[in-house]
Amino acid sequence: MGSLEVDLSNVPVGQSATIKWRGKPVFIRHRTQDEIEYARKDDDAPMRDPSPDALRCPDPEWAVFLGVCTHLGCVPIANAGDYKGWFCPCHGSHYDLTGRIRKGPAPLNLEIPPHQFLEGNKLLLG
Ligand code: FES
Repeated sequence: MGSLEVDLSNVPVGQSATIKWRGKPVFIRHRTQDEIEYARKDDDAPMRDPSPDALRCPDPEWAVFLGVCTHLGCVPIANAGDYKGWFCPCHGSHYDLTGRIRKGPAPLNLEIPPHQFLEGNKLLLG
């Protein structure tokens, strides 16, 4: 109940998609090799809510986050901000390609929804 299967073949490398799940936006980003390297090289940078990229994105080509800013709940914009990830225009929170909060008032990283990758290039949310 409440699960959703997403066909990832509709999200080519370098592209992002936003889908709706349980009434909330979910960001799915198909990261390029450069983006993965850019994200991982920052693992040791000072952060408000430190978490290694490999933990948040164990399948490194894919970043899957709830599209809800952890400040006051606005929907951030993809491919924007100072860290190439998401930017929340409401009060200026910058998230990186790992969905980690890097700048601005948000207290926590973007939440990771329960999900798993299935055969046939599919993602199951929930
Ligand atoms: Fe995103 Fe305030 S709701 S910065």
